[in-house]
Amino acid sequence: MIVGVPRETYPDERRVALVPAVLASLAKAGLEALVEAGAGTAAGYPDAAYVEKGARIASSRAGGFSAAGGILQVRGYGANLEAGRGDLRLLRQQQVLIGQFDPLYALEAAKEIASTGATTFALELLPRIARAQSMDVLSSMATVSGYKAVLMAATLLPKMFPMLMTAAGTVAPARVFVVGAGVAGLQAIATARRLGAVVEAFDVRPTVKEQIESLGAKFVELPLEVADAQDAAGYARAQEEGVYARQREVMARLVAQSDVVITTALIPGQQAPLLITGKMVASMAPGSVIVDLAADRGGNCELTRPHKTVVEHEVTLLGPVNLAATVPHHASQMYARNVSAFLQHLVKDREIHVDTSDEIIRETLLTWAGKVVHPGIREALGLAPAAPRDERTPEWKRSPSR
Ligand code: NAI
Repeated sequence: MIVGVPRETYPDERRVALVPAVLASLAKAGLEALVEAGAGTAAGYPDAAYVEKGARIASSRAGGFSAAGGILQVRGYGANLEAGRGDLRLLRQQQVLIGQFDPLYALEAAKEIASTGATTFALELLPRIARAQSMDVLSSMATVSGYKAVLMAATLLPKMFPMLMTAAGTVAPARVFVVGAGVAGLQAIATARRLGAVVEAFDVRPTVKEQIESLGAKFVELPLEVADAQDAAGYARAQEEGVYARQREVMARLVAQSDVVITTALIPGQQAPLLITGKMVASMAPGSVIVDLAADRGGNCELTRPHKTVVEHEVTLLGPVNLAATVPHHASQMYARNVSAFLQHLVKDREIHVDTSDEIIRETLLTWAGKVVHPGIREALGLAPAAPRDERTPEWKRSPSR
Protein backbone atom coordinates (compact mmCIF):
# COMPACT_ATOMS: atom_id res chain seq x y z
CA MET A 1 0.00 0.00 0.00
CA ILE A 2 1.44 3.30 -1.10
CA VAL A 3 0.75 6.64 0.55
CA GLY A 4 1.67 9.70 -1.47
CA VAL A 5 2.94 12.91 0.11
CA PRO A 6 2.64 15.77 -2.39
CA ARG A 7 4.47 19.05 -1.92
CA GLU A 8 2.12 21.59 -0.36
CA THR A 9 1.03 24.37 -2.71
CA TYR A 10 -0.84 26.89 -0.52
CA PRO A 11 0.98 30.26 -0.66
CA ASP A 12 3.80 30.41 1.90
CA GLU A 13 2.95 26.94 3.15
CA ARG A 14 6.11 25.30 4.44
CA ARG A 15 4.73 22.26 6.23
CA VAL A 16 4.65 18.69 4.97
CA ALA A 17 2.19 15.95 5.90
CA LEU A 18 4.72 13.23 6.78
CA VAL A 19 8.19 13.49 8.29
CA PRO A 20 10.89 10.80 8.04
CA ALA A 21 10.59 9.87 11.74
CA VAL A 22 7.07 8.41 11.33
CA LEU A 23 7.90 6.21 8.33
CA ALA A 24 9.06 3.23 10.40
CA SER A 25 5.74 2.94 12.22
CA LEU A 26 3.84 3.28 8.95
CA ALA A 27 5.99 0.55 7.39
CA LYS A 28 5.02 -1.76 10.24
CA ALA A 29 1.39 -1.16 9.29
CA GLY A 30 2.25 -2.10 5.70
CA LEU A 31 2.38 1.43 4.30
CA GLU A 32 5.11 2.64 1.98
CA ALA A 33 5.63 6.38 1.46
CA LEU A 34 6.06 7.99 -1.95
CA VAL A 35 7.15 11.58 -1.39
CA GLU A 36 7.10 14.26 -4.08
CA ALA A 37 10.61 15.64 -4.61
CA GLY A 38 11.24 18.59 -2.30
CA ALA A 39 8.01 18.11 -0.30
CA GLY A 40 9.77 18.39 3.06
CA THR A 41 12.60 20.75 2.15
CA ALA A 42 11.04 23.96 3.49
CA ALA A 43 10.32 22.26 6.81
CA GLY A 44 13.89 20.99 7.15
CA TYR A 45 13.31 17.43 5.92
CA PRO A 46 15.36 16.86 2.75
CA ASP A 47 14.51 14.09 0.28
CA ALA A 48 17.53 12.10 1.45
CA ALA A 49 16.14 11.91 5.00
CA TYR A 50 12.95 10.28 3.66
CA VAL A 51 14.92 7.86 1.49
CA GLU A 52 17.06 6.89 4.47
CA LYS A 53 13.87 5.87 6.30
CA GLY A 54 12.64 3.78 3.39
CA ALA A 55 10.54 6.21 1.33
CA ARG A 56 10.70 6.60 -2.43
CA ILE A 57 10.79 9.98 -4.12
CA ALA A 58 8.24 10.70 -6.85
CA SER A 59 9.77 12.71 -9.63
CA SER A 60 6.48 14.30 -10.64
CA ARG A 61 3.35 15.34 -8.79
CA ALA A 62 1.07 13.54 -11.23
CA GLY A 63 3.21 10.40 -10.96
CA GLY A 64 2.88 10.45 -7.18
CA PHE A 65 -0.89 10.86 -7.30
CA SER A 66 -1.27 8.09 -9.83
CA ALA A 67 0.91 5.55 -8.01
CA ALA A 68 -0.53 6.13 -4.54
CA GLY A 69 -3.69 4.60 -3.13
CA GLY A 70 -3.79 7.23 -0.40
CA ILE A 71 -2.75 10.89 -0.48
CA LEU A 72 -1.70 12.74 2.67
CA GLN A 73 -1.82 16.53 2.69
CA VAL A 74 -1.67 19.41 5.13
CA ARG A 75 -3.92 21.65 3.06
CA GLY A 76 -5.94 19.70 0.55
CA TYR A 77 -8.43 21.30 -1.85
CA GLY A 78 -10.90 23.31 0.21
CA ALA A 79 -8.15 24.42 2.57
CA ASN A 80 -6.22 25.49 -0.55
CA LEU A 81 -8.85 26.69 -2.98
CA GLU A 82 -6.76 28.32 -5.67
CA ALA A 83 -3.51 26.39 -5.92
CA GLY A 84 -5.16 23.12 -4.82
CA ARG A 85 -7.74 23.07 -7.61
CA GLY A 86 -5.29 21.55 -10.08
CA ASP A 87 -5.05 18.41 -7.95
CA LEU A 88 -8.71 17.53 -8.54
CA ARG A 89 -7.97 16.14 -11.98
CA LEU A 90 -5.25 13.90 -10.49
CA LEU A 91 -7.72 12.16 -8.15
CA ARG A 92 -9.58 9.00 -9.00
CA GLN A 93 -12.42 6.85 -7.74
CA GLN A 94 -11.86 5.41 -4.26
CA GLN A 95 -8.46 6.96 -3.83
CA VAL A 96 -8.17 7.83 -0.15
CA LEU A 97 -7.43 11.46 0.81
CA ILE A 98 -6.42 12.39 4.33
CA GLY A 99 -5.75 15.95 5.42
CA GLN A 100 -7.36 19.29 6.11
CA PHE A 101 -10.04 20.37 3.64
CA ASP A 102 -11.77 23.16 5.62
CA PRO A 103 -15.08 21.29 5.30
CA LEU A 104 -17.13 23.53 7.60
CA TYR A 105 -16.45 26.58 5.45
CA ALA A 106 -15.46 25.33 1.96
CA LEU A 107 -18.74 23.51 1.38
CA GLU A 108 -18.75 23.65 -2.41
CA ALA A 109 -15.19 22.32 -2.49
CA ALA A 110 -16.36 19.23 -0.60
CA LYS A 111 -18.84 18.61 -3.43
CA GLU A 112 -16.12 19.02 -6.04
CA ILE A 113 -13.86 16.54 -4.25
CA ALA A 114 -16.79 14.13 -3.92
CA SER A 115 -17.37 14.28 -7.67
CA THR A 116 -13.93 12.74 -8.26
CA GLY A 117 -15.11 9.61 -6.41
CA ALA A 118 -12.29 9.88 -3.87
CA THR A 119 -12.78 8.79 -0.26
CA THR A 120 -11.91 11.82 1.86
CA PHE A 121 -11.14 12.06 5.55
CA ALA A 122 -11.17 15.66 6.80
CA LEU A 123 -9.16 15.77 9.99
CA GLU A 124 -10.83 19.02 11.14
CA LEU A 125 -13.93 16.89 11.78
CA LEU A 126 -12.17 14.56 14.20
CA PRO A 127 -14.19 14.23 17.42
CA ARG A 128 -12.45 15.88 20.43
CA ILE A 129 -12.47 12.64 22.45
CA ALA A 130 -9.66 11.10 24.48
CA ARG A 131 -9.28 8.19 22.04
CA ALA A 132 -8.63 10.59 19.15
CA GLN A 133 -6.23 12.92 20.96
CA SER A 134 -3.14 11.52 19.25
CA MET A 135 -4.73 12.35 15.85
CA ASP A 136 -5.94 15.85 16.70
CA VAL A 137 -4.37 18.13 14.08
CA LEU A 138 -6.47 21.13 15.14
CA SER A 139 -4.96 20.99 18.61
CA SER A 140 -1.43 20.52 17.26
CA MET A 141 -1.65 23.43 14.86
CA ALA A 142 -3.43 25.66 17.41
CA THR A 143 -0.62 24.97 19.86
CA VAL A 144 1.94 26.22 17.35
CA SER A 145 -0.20 29.26 16.46
CA GLY A 146 -0.75 30.29 20.06
CA TYR A 147 2.98 30.11 20.73
CA LYS A 148 3.96 32.03 17.61
CA ALA A 149 1.30 34.73 18.13
CA VAL A 150 2.96 35.71 21.39
CA LEU A 151 6.44 35.78 19.86
CA MET A 152 5.22 38.04 17.06
CA ALA A 153 3.56 40.38 19.54
CA ALA A 154 6.66 40.42 21.75
CA THR A 155 8.85 41.35 18.79
CA LEU A 156 6.63 44.23 17.68
CA LEU A 157 5.83 45.65 21.12
CA PRO A 158 8.11 48.57 21.99
CA LYS A 159 8.32 47.17 25.51
CA MET A 160 9.82 44.06 27.10
CA PHE A 161 7.58 41.33 28.51
CA PRO A 162 9.28 40.55 31.86
CA MET A 163 9.56 42.73 34.91
CA LEU A 164 13.23 43.65 35.35
CA MET A 165 14.83 45.23 38.37
CA THR A 166 18.07 46.72 37.16
CA ALA A 167 20.62 49.35 38.14
CA ALA A 168 18.81 51.54 35.63
CA GLY A 169 15.58 51.16 37.50
CA THR A 170 12.59 48.87 37.39
CA VAL A 171 10.89 47.85 34.14
CA ALA A 172 7.21 47.03 34.56
CA PRO A 173 6.03 43.75 33.03
CA ALA A 174 3.88 43.81 29.87
CA ARG A 175 0.17 43.18 30.28
CA VAL A 176 -1.26 40.57 27.94
CA PHE A 177 -4.98 39.87 27.54
CA VAL A 178 -5.99 36.61 25.84
CA VAL A 179 -9.57 36.33 24.60
CA GLY A 180 -10.63 32.72 24.06
CA ALA A 181 -8.80 30.05 26.02
CA GLY A 182 -9.09 27.00 23.78
CA VAL A 183 -5.94 25.25 22.64
CA ALA A 184 -4.36 28.30 20.95
CA GLY A 185 -5.35 30.65 23.76
CA LEU A 186 -3.92 28.38 26.46
CA GLN A 187 -0.63 28.06 24.58
CA ALA A 188 -0.54 31.85 24.14
CA ILE A 189 -1.06 32.24 27.89
CA ALA A 190 1.71 29.74 28.68
CA THR A 191 4.13 31.41 26.25
CA ALA A 192 3.42 34.94 27.50
CA ARG A 193 3.86 33.75 31.08
CA ARG A 194 7.20 32.13 30.21
CA LEU A 195 8.33 35.49 28.87
CA GLY A 196 7.31 37.10 32.16
CA ALA A 197 4.20 39.03 31.18
CA VAL A 198 1.25 39.55 33.48
CA VAL A 199 -1.53 37.65 31.73
CA GLU A 200 -5.29 37.86 31.98
CA ALA A 201 -7.70 35.75 29.96
CA PHE A 202 -11.38 35.31 29.29
CA ASP A 203 -13.48 32.60 27.68
CA VAL A 204 -17.24 32.18 27.46
CA ARG A 205 -16.79 28.60 28.64
CA PRO A 206 -16.42 28.87 32.41
CA THR A 207 -14.80 25.41 32.58
CA VAL A 208 -11.49 26.87 31.37
CA LYS A 209 -11.04 29.02 34.49
CA GLU A 210 -9.00 26.33 36.23
CA GLN A 211 -6.81 25.75 33.15
CA ILE A 212 -6.08 29.47 32.83
CA GLU A 213 -5.18 29.72 36.51
CA SER A 214 -2.98 26.63 36.38
CA LEU A 215 -0.82 28.48 33.81
CA GLY A 216 -0.32 31.40 36.17
CA ALA A 217 -2.77 33.76 34.48
CA LYS A 218 -5.85 35.46 35.88
CA PHE A 219 -9.28 34.43 34.65
CA VAL A 220 -11.31 37.60 34.35
CA GLU A 221 -14.89 37.21 35.47
CA LEU A 222 -17.04 39.30 33.16
CA PRO A 223 -20.66 40.06 34.07
CA LEU A 224 -22.15 38.30 31.02
CA GLU A 225 -25.30 36.25 30.67
CA VAL A 226 -23.93 33.50 28.44
CA ALA A 227 -26.60 30.97 27.57
CA ASP A 228 -25.48 27.37 27.24
CA ALA A 229 -21.83 28.29 26.69
CA GLN A 230 -20.61 24.90 25.47
CA ASP A 231 -22.02 22.24 23.13
CA ALA A 232 -21.72 18.47 23.59
CA ALA A 233 -18.48 18.40 21.60
CA GLY A 234 -16.85 20.96 23.89
CA TYR A 235 -17.02 23.88 21.44
CA ALA A 236 -18.41 27.31 22.31
CA ARG A 237 -21.99 27.92 21.15
CA ALA A 238 -22.91 31.02 19.18
CA GLN A 239 -24.59 33.67 21.32
CA GLU A 240 -27.17 36.34 20.54
CA GLU A 241 -25.64 39.55 19.20
CA GLY A 242 -26.72 41.24 22.44
CA VAL A 243 -24.32 39.04 24.41
CA TYR A 244 -21.41 40.04 22.17
CA ALA A 245 -22.39 43.72 22.46
CA ARG A 246 -22.31 43.39 26.23
CA GLN A 247 -18.99 41.51 26.04
CA ARG A 248 -17.43 44.36 24.03
CA GLU A 249 -18.71 46.79 26.64
CA VAL A 250 -17.33 44.92 29.64
CA MET A 251 -14.02 44.11 27.93
CA ALA A 252 -13.36 47.73 26.92
CA ARG A 253 -11.45 48.68 30.05
CA LEU A 254 -9.33 45.51 29.95
CA VAL A 255 -8.40 46.06 26.31
CA ALA A 256 -7.49 49.70 26.99
CA GLN A 257 -5.14 48.66 29.80
CA SER A 258 -3.37 45.89 27.86
CA ASP A 259 -0.13 46.15 25.94
CA VAL A 260 -0.95 43.06 23.92
CA VAL A 261 -4.31 41.47 23.10
CA ILE A 262 -4.44 38.02 21.53
CA THR A 263 -7.84 36.96 20.28
CA THR A 264 -8.71 33.35 19.41
CA ALA A 265 -12.52 33.29 19.83
CA LEU A 266 -14.18 30.99 17.31
CA ILE A 267 -17.47 29.22 16.76
CA PRO A 268 -17.06 26.22 14.43
CA GLY A 269 -18.72 26.73 11.04
CA GLN A 270 -19.54 30.40 11.66
CA GLN A 271 -17.97 33.81 11.33
CA ALA A 272 -15.88 34.77 14.35
CA PRO A 273 -17.68 36.95 16.90
CA LEU A 274 -16.74 40.64 16.77
CA LEU A 275 -15.30 41.41 20.20
CA ILE A 276 -13.00 44.42 19.67
CA THR A 277 -14.24 47.54 17.91
CA GLY A 278 -12.17 50.25 16.27
CA LYS A 279 -13.00 52.49 19.22
CA MET A 280 -11.55 49.92 21.61
CA VAL A 281 -8.38 49.76 19.51
CA ALA A 282 -8.13 53.56 19.67
CA SER A 283 -8.30 53.38 23.48
CA MET A 284 -5.05 51.36 23.67
CA ALA A 285 -1.69 52.98 24.34
CA PRO A 286 0.38 53.82 21.23
CA GLY A 287 2.62 50.89 20.28
CA SER A 288 0.22 48.25 21.64
CA VAL A 289 -0.25 45.09 19.60
CA ILE A 290 -3.29 42.97 18.74
CA VAL A 291 -2.85 39.51 17.21
CA ASP A 292 -6.15 38.26 15.80
CA LEU A 293 -5.96 34.50 15.40
CA ALA A 294 -9.56 34.50 14.15
CA ALA A 295 -8.51 36.61 11.11
CA ASP A 296 -9.39 33.99 8.51
CA ARG A 297 -12.94 33.66 9.94
CA GLY A 298 -13.68 37.38 9.73
CA GLY A 299 -11.63 38.36 12.78
CA ASN A 300 -12.48 39.13 16.40
CA CYS A 301 -11.30 42.69 15.87
CA GLU A 302 -13.08 45.11 13.57
CA LEU A 303 -9.84 46.50 12.12
CA THR A 304 -8.10 43.19 11.39
CA ARG A 305 -7.06 42.65 7.79
CA PRO A 306 -6.49 38.94 7.07
CA HIS A 307 -2.92 38.13 5.93
CA LYS A 308 -1.82 41.69 6.79
CA THR A 309 -0.10 43.67 9.51
CA VAL A 310 -1.60 47.15 9.74
CA VAL A 311 -1.24 50.10 12.09
CA GLU A 312 -4.44 51.83 13.15
CA HIS A 313 -4.67 54.44 15.90
CA GLU A 314 -0.94 53.75 16.53
CA VAL A 315 -1.77 50.15 17.43
CA THR A 316 -0.25 47.33 15.38
CA LEU A 317 -2.83 44.75 14.27
CA LEU A 318 -1.77 41.35 12.96
CA GLY A 319 -4.15 39.13 11.02
CA PRO A 320 -2.16 35.95 10.35
CA VAL A 321 -4.08 33.16 8.65
CA ASN A 322 -1.61 30.28 8.54
CA LEU A 323 0.64 30.82 11.50
CA ALA A 324 1.50 27.15 12.05
CA ALA A 325 3.26 27.18 8.66
CA THR A 326 5.78 29.70 10.04
CA VAL A 327 7.12 27.05 12.45
CA PRO A 328 7.23 24.33 9.81
CA HIS A 329 9.65 21.87 11.36
CA HIS A 330 7.77 21.15 14.55
CA ALA A 331 4.35 21.85 13.04
CA SER A 332 5.10 19.14 10.43
CA GLN A 333 6.43 16.78 13.07
CA MET A 334 3.24 17.14 15.11
CA TYR A 335 1.00 16.96 12.05
CA ALA A 336 2.81 13.84 10.80
CA ARG A 337 2.40 12.10 14.16
CA ASN A 338 -1.33 12.93 14.10
CA VAL A 339 -1.76 11.69 10.52
CA SER A 340 0.23 8.59 11.19
CA ALA A 341 -1.90 7.78 14.27
CA PHE A 342 -5.01 8.28 12.16
CA LEU A 343 -3.67 6.03 9.38
CA GLN A 344 -2.77 3.31 11.84
CA HIS A 345 -6.30 3.51 13.20
CA LEU A 346 -7.68 3.17 9.68
CA VAL A 347 -5.47 0.26 8.66
CA LYS A 348 -6.30 -3.19 9.97
CA ASP A 349 -4.33 -6.25 8.82
CA ARG A 350 -2.40 -4.10 6.35
CA GLU A 351 -5.60 -2.95 4.67
CA ILE A 352 -7.75 0.13 4.98
CA HIS A 353 -11.15 -0.37 6.56
CA VAL A 354 -13.67 2.41 6.39
CA ASP A 355 -15.56 1.10 9.37
CA THR A 356 -18.28 3.64 10.02
CA SER A 357 -19.31 1.99 13.26
CA ASP A 358 -16.16 3.63 14.64
CA GLU A 359 -16.84 7.22 15.75
CA ILE A 360 -13.42 8.52 14.68
CA ILE A 361 -13.78 7.13 11.14
CA ARG A 362 -17.44 8.04 10.79
CA GLU A 363 -17.05 11.62 11.95
CA THR A 364 -14.07 12.39 9.72
CA LEU A 365 -15.42 10.73 6.56
CA LEU A 366 -16.32 13.64 4.28
CA THR A 367 -16.80 12.11 0.84
CA TRP A 368 -17.38 8.59 -0.38
CA ALA A 369 -18.43 7.01 -3.69
CA GLY A 370 -19.11 10.31 -5.42
CA LYS A 371 -21.04 11.94 -2.57
CA VAL A 372 -20.51 14.18 0.40
CA VAL A 373 -21.51 11.74 3.15
CA HIS A 374 -20.79 13.61 6.40
CA PRO A 375 -24.24 14.32 7.92
CA GLY A 376 -23.34 17.79 9.27
CA ILE A 377 -21.78 18.93 6.00
CA ARG A 378 -24.69 17.51 3.99
CA GLU A 379 -27.06 19.49 6.17
CA ALA A 380 -24.99 22.66 5.72
CA LEU A 381 -25.17 22.06 1.96
CA GLY A 382 -28.95 21.64 2.14
CA LEU A 383 -28.72 17.98 1.05
CA ALA A 384 -30.95 15.20 2.36
CA PRO A 385 -29.32 12.72 4.75
CA ALA A 386 -27.22 10.08 2.93
CA ALA A 387 -28.17 6.43 2.93
CA PRO A 388 -26.76 4.48 5.91
CA ARG A 389 -23.12 3.64 5.39
CA ASP A 390 -21.76 0.11 5.63
CA GLU A 391 -18.21 -0.96 5.97
CA ARG A 392 -16.51 0.23 2.79
CA THR A 393 -13.57 -1.19 0.96
CA PRO A 394 -11.45 1.33 -0.85
CA GLU A 395 -9.36 0.52 -3.83
CA TRP A 396 -6.06 -0.17 -2.16
CA LYS A 397 -7.52 -3.13 -0.28
CA ARG A 398 -8.12 -4.76 -3.62
CA SER A 399 -4.93 -3.73 -5.35
CA PRO A 400 -2.25 -3.39 -2.71
CA SER A 401 0.45 -3.05 -5.33
CA ARG A 402 -0.82 0.44 -6.28
P1 NAI B 1 -11.94 26.92 19.06
O1 NAI B 1 -10.70 27.17 18.28
O2 NAI B 1 -13.17 26.48 18.38
O3 NAI B 1 -12.30 28.27 19.87
C1 NAI B 1 -11.33 28.94 20.62
C2 NAI B 1 -11.89 29.38 21.95
O4 NAI B 1 -12.70 30.53 21.78
C3 NAI B 1 -12.75 28.36 22.67
O5 NAI B 1 -12.19 28.09 23.92
C4 NAI B 1 -14.10 29.05 22.79
O6 NAI B 1 -14.78 28.73 23.97
C5 NAI B 1 -13.67 30.50 22.78
N1 NAI B 1 -14.73 31.48 22.50
C6 NAI B 1 -15.75 31.41 21.61
N2 NAI B 1 -16.49 32.53 21.66
C7 NAI B 1 -15.92 33.34 22.59
C8 NAI B 1 -16.22 34.64 23.09
N3 NAI B 1 -17.27 35.33 22.65
N4 NAI B 1 -15.40 35.15 24.05
C9 NAI B 1 -14.34 34.47 24.52
N5 NAI B 1 -14.02 33.24 24.09
C10 NAI B 1 -14.79 32.68 23.14
O7 NAI B 1 -11.62 25.94 20.26
P2 NAI B 1 -10.54 24.78 20.37
O8 NAI B 1 -9.27 25.34 20.86
O9 NAI B 1 -10.53 24.02 19.11
O10 NAI B 1 -11.16 23.89 21.54
C11 NAI B 1 -12.53 23.47 21.46
C12 NAI B 1 -12.86 22.58 22.62
O11 NAI B 1 -12.32 21.31 22.45
C13 NAI B 1 -12.35 23.05 23.96
O12 NAI B 1 -13.32 22.78 24.92
C14 NAI B 1 -11.16 22.22 24.21
O13 NAI B 1 -10.83 22.12 25.57
C15 NAI B 1 -11.65 20.91 23.64
N6 NAI B 1 -10.58 20.01 23.27
C16 NAI B 1 -10.67 18.69 23.66
C17 NAI B 1 -9.70 17.80 23.30
C18 NAI B 1 -9.84 16.37 23.69
O14 NAI B 1 -10.47 16.06 24.65
N7 NAI B 1 -9.27 15.49 22.94
C19 NAI B 1 -8.55 18.20 22.50
C20 NAI B 1 -8.56 19.61 22.16
C21 NAI B 1 -9.55 20.45 22.52
